Amino acid sequence: MSISLSTAASLYDRVRRVIPPIEWPAFSDDIDAILALKRERNAVILAHNYQTPEIFHCVADIVGDSLALARKAMTVDAQVIVLAGVHFMAETAKLLNPGKTVLIPDLGAGCSLADSITAADVRLMRQRYPGVPVVTYVNTSAAVKAESDICCTSGNALAIVESLGTPRVIMLPDEYLARNIATQTKVEIIAWKGHCEVHERFTPADIRELREAHPGVTVLAHPECPPEVVAEADFAGSTAAMSDYVGRHKPARVVLMTECSMSDNVAIEHPEVDFVRPCNLCPHMKRITLANIRAALEENRHVVTIDPDVADRARRAVERMLAV
Ligand code: 13P
Ligand code: SF4
Repeated sequence: MSISLSTAASLYDRVRRVIPPIEWPAFSDDIDAILALKRERNAVILAHNYQTPEIFHCVADIVGDSLALARKAMTVDAQVIVLAGVHFMAETAKLLNPGKTVLIPDLGAGCSLADSITAADVRLMRQRYPGVPVVTYVNTSAAVKAESDICCTSGNALAIVESLGTPRVIMLPDEYLARNIATQTKVEIIAWKGHCEVHERFTPADIRELREAHPGVTVLAHPECPPEVVAEADFAGSTAAMSDYVGRHKPARVVLMTECSMSDNVAIEHPEVDFVRPCNLCPHMKRITLANIRAALEENRHVVTIDPDVADRARRAVERMLAV
């Protein structure tokens, strides 16, 4: 089955500002096939804000930041979930939907933060700081979540830290997120040394150069950026918070200190805003393509599985976060 021509045309209309007409034929076949496969397989596609526009705007059913994807994953009726994002996001969707099939189109779609810490590391931190609760960023494996008291995302980290009512928390594994949250709370935060390989590359000098080259530009930064970068920005927040900021304030010109595709996706929604685009790609996010989403649905691959004992403990930490 293929979608009608008018649907294909209207899909291209959505993305014409960021995908040149010459590139569209390379996408349209896979888009037709994916739309048909979703109906045949009773599947939905969850896509993170860093996915490329032909995925984000043309085949995804649910889009958002890590927190929104986790929350919305709980409301999905379909039997199959394809996670267009990285592995920890697919694991989180599986934790919240143990009875459904969750597919990740490329098993290599990892995350430098998730790779920076193991379950044994968390146990060592607990030994070193007895009785101090462990707040774990969702950008971690299920095994690490299973050793944690509660999870957080960049969208709710401050609220989660303050919800525990303790004078100190251990916050793993993103050192910069931990230090950025520490500037907003009286709770003492014990951090780990993990970094996002995309956001750690931004520097305060980058922001100063951008301001000089584009006078009046509004600078938004993700809290995985180093604190010196966040200090130079006009606003810091999760990918969803940055997108909301653009919608609410409609700055004449904006720069998002985050992954490249985010600007394309938000620019489509706000044609009146001029986006300056320094480009740091996340190589893990970019492993997901229309071709491997199609193959995932055609060949039922790669099925995400989690050891049941690990899953039970990890789910508790994620559900505790979602209840805050
Ligand atoms: P968000 O939760 O802000 O979408 O961030 C996820 C991520 O991987 C950022 O690098
Ligand atoms: Fe991980 Fe950074 Fe890529 Fe997000 S952008 S998935 S934190 S490596």
